[in-house]
Amino acid sequence: MAQLLSSSCSLTTSSSNKAYLKPFNQCSTAFSISVACKTSRSPFRRLFSHDQKPKRRTVVRATAISTSQEAPSQTSSGSLENSGGSSKPQRVMVIGGDGYCGWATSLHLSNMGYEVAIVDNLVRRHFDHQLGLDSLTPISSIHNRIRCWKSLTGKSIELYIGDICDFGFLSEAFQSFEPDAVVHFGEQRSAPYSMIDRSRAVFTQQNNVIGTLNVLFAIKEFREQCHLVKLGTMGEYGTPNIDIEEGYITITHNGRTDTLPYPKQASSFYHLSKVHDSHNIAFTCKAWGIRATDLNQGVVYGVKTPETEMHEELHNRFDYDGVFGTALNRFCVQAAVGHPLTVYGKGGQTRGYLDIRDTVQCVEIAIANPAKPGEFRVFNQFTEQFSVNELAALVTKAGKKLGLDVQTVSVPNPRVEAEEHYYNAKHTKLIELGLKPHLLSDSLLDSLLHFTIKYKDRVDTKQIMPSVSWKKIGVKTKTVTA
Ligand SMILES: NC(=O)c1ccc[n+]([C@@H]2O[C@H](COP(=O)([O-])OP(=O)(O)OC[C@H]3O[C@@H](n4cnc5c(N)ncnc54)[C@H](O)[C@@H]3O)[C@@H](O)[C@H]2O)c1
Repeated sequence: MAQLLSSSCSLTTSSSNKAYLKPFNQCSTAFSISVACKTSRSPFRRLFSHDQKPKRRTVVRATAISTSQEAPSQTSSGSLENSGGSSKPQRVMVIGGDGYCGWATSLHLSNMGYEVAIVDNLVRRHFDHQLGLDSLTPISSIHNRIRCWKSLTGKSIELYIGDICDFGFLSEAFQSFEPDAVVHFGEQRSAPYSMIDRSRAVFTQQNNVIGTLNVLFAIKEFREQCHLVKLGTMGEYGTPNIDIEEGYITITHNGRTDTLPYPKQASSFYHLSKVHDSHNIAFTCKAWGIRATDLNQGVVYGVKTPETEMHEELHNRFDYDGVFGTALNRFCVQAAVGHPLTVYGKGGQTRGYLDIRDTVQCVEIAIANPAKPGEFRVFNQFTEQFSVNELAALVTKAGKKLGLDVQTVSVPNPRVEAEEHYYNAKHTKLIELGLKPHLLSDSLLDSLLHFTIKYKDRVDTKQIMPSVSWKKIGVKTKTVTA
């Protein structure tokens, strides 16, 4: 990792800020960023102990404009009305903006008129190097992505490269950018990754819990009115034998009634980190008056958003391997390469799902309708629920229409989870605020399958089968995919 970090130090390029459109394949540098370097400690580097004298990389585009700390009122998407009645773009910091959900969201927000800054330490790209994985789609470096966006649209995205577990770095980014809202995607987000070995379990919990804690302290210290939009997961709730509510449940016990946080039953060290995040956020909303929205997101599928489709350098990552790939995306790749669809165990595992176009919409809705100071708001962010068997049946049907021979195989379940269970999760709050869902349709499945067929020569079939067992996790560090 030290090599990855130290290979991209000082970078200063500049040219015209004038907005112009270039034909595809001709994206080029059209904005300026400046880079500064610092050192610090982080759990990320502790995981990779072979590093020699690692240096923290901090990328700061120091163009902060001082803004009032008074709570501003929202007028329309992407702008705020201040006390003088004039409106200016709302400043949104997207932590984890180089990742799957974060990249699509950053472009969407920028397109809608928000001032966007991406904060990312690029650790997700490092996981690929570490485990020998790759995105189905070729993805450009974050620097080229941002240059291309500027070149196509004239819109700048600021970039801060560093680890949010390093509070010095995060403080600098906060004070420089002065966000009105922070969207926090920046975590280790794979349950299997967190179950590879002890070091990955420890890394996941340190990275996620401490990173979020630092964001909370940064808001308290530097931007009290800043709205935190945090990505949680529906997996925090587990699969209880009663309906899942949106964050809270009203219980009558021994004649007394209270509305309490909905019980959490996490099923991996990753999911447990999310539960702890939620508790820390809820506590700081109460104790310090932080305003926060916890988006308990379902499993995301799809890869295209209108913005990522504008140029191949803007394409999003698409994971299909057994560690980072999510169910429907994986099934589409499996169908494309003639691999049987890998249903874990009985396949009755039911979860909430959503299209990546709805992820970006939901986040924008949460920003445009902020939580009140001191409020800890929880939205269940998914649009439909499916069992694994239902998804396999849908992909089989869509594949047959395209002439693919799609088979399904039941593989031993590497996870510890109920394979047949009741599942009914509420998800009305985002709809009430205006979400217009893109439901899973035949045409979307057709397009996803066509997309995976287009890139099927890039598929490494060795990465398809699940390789991480919940029961076999041990202390010995695994140096390659288990
Ligand atoms: N993808 C899904 O299906 C899904 C489902 C539910 C919830 N979520 C949540 O949404 C968020 C984003 O998921 P994703 O699929 O885009 O993940 P991703 O791994 O593609 O992106 C996460 C990004 O955060 C960055 N990051 C991680 N730790 C960091 C740190 N300490 N400092 C700075 N940057 C850091 C990574 O480099 C990466 O670019 C995660 O919090 C995840 O738990 C995702």
